[in-house]
Amino acid sequence: MSIAEIHQTRYGSEPDGVYKAPGRVNLIGEHTDYNDGYVFPTPISRHIEVSIKKRDDQHINLHSHDFRDDASYKTEGYAVDPEHHWANYVLGVVQALQKRGHSLGGFDMCIKGDVPIGAGLSSSAALETAVVRSLKDQFKLDLDPVDAAYVGKECENNFVGVQSGIMDQFVSSLGEYGKALFIDCRTNEYSLHGLTDDVRVVIVNSMMDRSLAGSEYNIRHAQCTEAVDIIKKTYPEVKALRDVTEEMLLEQWGNLPKLIARRARHVVTENTRVLESTKLLDIGDMLGFGELMYDSHDSLQHDYEVSSKHLDLLVDYTMDLDGVLGARLTGAGFGGCTVNLVEVDCVDEFTEEITERYFNRTAKRCEVYLA
Ligand code: GLA
Repeated sequence: MSIAEIHQTRYGSEPDGVYKAPGRVNLIGEHTDYNDGYVFPTPISRHIEVSIKKRDDQHINLHSHDFRDDASYKTEGYAVDPEHHWANYVLGVVQALQKRGHSLGGFDMCIKGDVPIGAGLSSSAALETAVVRSLKDQFKLDLDPVDAAYVGKECENNFVGVQSGIMDQFVSSLGEYGKALFIDCRTNEYSLHGLTDDVRVVIVNSMMDRSLAGSEYNIRHAQCTEAVDIIKKTYPEVKALRDVTEEMLLEQWGNLPKLIARRARHVVTENTRVLESTKLLDIGDMLGFGELMYDSHDSLQHDYEVSSKHLDLLVDYTMDLDGVLGARLTGAGFGGCTVNLVEVDCVDEFTEEITERYFNRTAKRCEVYLA
């Protein structure tokens, strides 16, 4: 059933509009966005869709097709709803828009999507972006796509309560399918970079729970702030790890607690890898780019410590598979997915082999998606 049909069945009338936004996979640049750094994600061909019809009153009625669940609120006086977790992504967007001075009336909305939920492919950012698009269009709000991304981030940070960066909403709002989007998370400058036709971005879902992701994520965030606070005693111009060079870090190494130094080293070297990656893509050097993906995983595994046994297995398996140029964990880590750069002709064999090896070792079936 299409979302318009679902809307018709649920609310008894056709929607005024249907809007969608994609999930994302990050190619390189992990845990750099909240350090004012650089990221390099790409949208995936999986989306969250919303249908909307404005109401004459102040009621917000929501229906989630995927959760087979309904929830109702008023446009004022709502709070975080612990019983309908999915609805908070809509309410948080409404609140962020209202805080910016936009006035919204009531509406009926249905939600449906095929971005795997909880897999680290940003189904929540896709939902936020689709909701912002629908409200912007229906209530004639003055918002550009970068504003739209920040509304999604405010929803996440201030309503849902995750201190995430801007990457996911930015690429969902501004990305172009089939291109990598370089984002400078301090200045919001961005640029699109094509991959060569002979490679595909392949995502492997470990099917492992990311329950640690929330709490450990906020701990990593705090550790980065700790590093900045120490380094800026010597270099007052440093506002974020983005401002720290490898030389500065080496010089400051002894001043930092060992663990904090390693966390900082991941972010500093990862920023360099992203800048290098954009150059390699522009000259079509996919082999060089793939190597940087492996370096990124190594750094996430050992310095930032956000990998898991299952993600490491999935990356290790690729080492002797034909046609794999690079592999790494993608997103926050602690479960979720790996992203792989695979030669077009080898994708089928890759899928078969990795699924079999993973199953033989873990008794779990991974899922494989083309980006
Ligand atoms: C999550 C967050 C992003 C980013 C990544 C790690 O996906 O939502 O903002 O920090 O983790 O790179």
